[in-house]
Amino acid sequence: MKIVSIVGTRPQLIKCALLSHELRKEHEEILVHTGQHYDHTMSEIFFEELLIPRPDYSLNIGSGPHGWQTGEMLAKLESVLQLEKPELVLTYGDTNSTLAGALAAAKLQLRVAHVEAGLRSFDRTMPEEINRVITDHISSLCFCPTVTAVMNLSREGIITGVHYVGDVMYDVLLQNMKISNNKSRICQMMGLKRKDYLVITIHRPSNTDNFDRLASIIDALSMVAKLVIFPLHPRTKKFLDVYGLLDRIPRNVKLIEPLGYLDMLQLMKGAEKILTDSGGIQKEAYMMSVPCITLRDNTEWVETVEEGWNVLVGADKDRIIEEIGAPFPTKKTGNLFGNGDARLKIAKIIGELN
Ligand code: UD1
Repeated sequence: MKIVSIVGTRPQLIKCALLSHELRKEHEEILVHTGQHYDHTMSEIFFEELLIPRPDYSLNIGSGPHGWQTGEMLAKLESVLQLEKPELVLTYGDTNSTLAGALAAAKLQLRVAHVEAGLRSFDRTMPEEINRVITDHISSLCFCPTVTAVMNLSREGIITGVHYVGDVMYDVLLQNMKISNNKSRICQMMGLKRKDYLVITIHRPSNTDNFDRLASIIDALSMVAKLVIFPLHPRTKKFLDVYGLLDRIPRNVKLIEPLGYLDMLQLMKGAEKILTDSGGIQKEAYMMSVPCITLRDNTEWVETVEEGWNVLVGADKDRIIEEIGAPFPTKKTGNLFGNGDARLKIAKIIGELN
């Protein structure tokens, strides 16, 4: 079968890494990179570390307002799809690249498969929520990472073509942890002591593009007597600068460049706790049994909260400080994200399509 897979951002590169190789055992896969992320640390390093096949098409769209960015992708992806005439179009996650890929394909009446389908934060102010809802509704195949995701789809009337497969990010984490243990020197290089530091990542527009929220998070960090490692997403770096907040970063907070996957795994694994507004990192924290403090008012990964490994604190300074000091579970009861074989299940289902 001829499959076009569409990626564009850092998390999508991680999600496609193993499935891409799995699909290529039986099928012809054409990989399209929209170029939504383009910096070396946001894109190329993931191809190198995770041995992702080179894209057959690089659309070089880059950054811009949502309508413009999605529109540019839509037009260029339509041309690629018309040329390639695939039997299946594979999209990942919830970014503008996901939406554009699904929409371009569905309009050409091509079959769309969505990996990481059914996630809902029930917050339509998030661009990702809009991308997810639309993508799921125009997909013929929805590959769900959790049981909650299957139930969310069912509530919206999507019941055919829905498969609970587990999370492809768990496959990738399991496969790369050993490599990361052997190769990454990040903790030694930074002189980090195991479980003696915090990691924070921020990139959601609701936090970065809002002075009060960003300042509140930074101020909370200044109130804790702990070393905090802060890999900076380009958007966050831009807004810290725009808002004049760089001077307010306390001494205990160490700003660093965005990390590759292997270094990020080590950094997260060794952390006492992780603070984040990322979806992927909430899961990865759970997978590595590291407590997570989520800097949002809601989450798609509700199971991690129900199990006590994740707490939602928004950008509330006092809540952040409180949770940094609070006890978290020490043992997990099961695994919420499958068995690490999601890619095999997805490839099998795709292989049985006619
Ligand atoms: C996007 C996704 C988000 C995902 C995140 C992972 C959407 C709506 N959002 O958000 O769901 O969690 O990726 O990181 O699709 N920039 C650079 N270099 C890059 C990429 C971005 O400098 O390589 C800067 C640009 O100034 C840009 C800003 O970061 O304006 C935001 O980039 P964009 O891709 O629009 O969204 P993200 O915030 O990364």
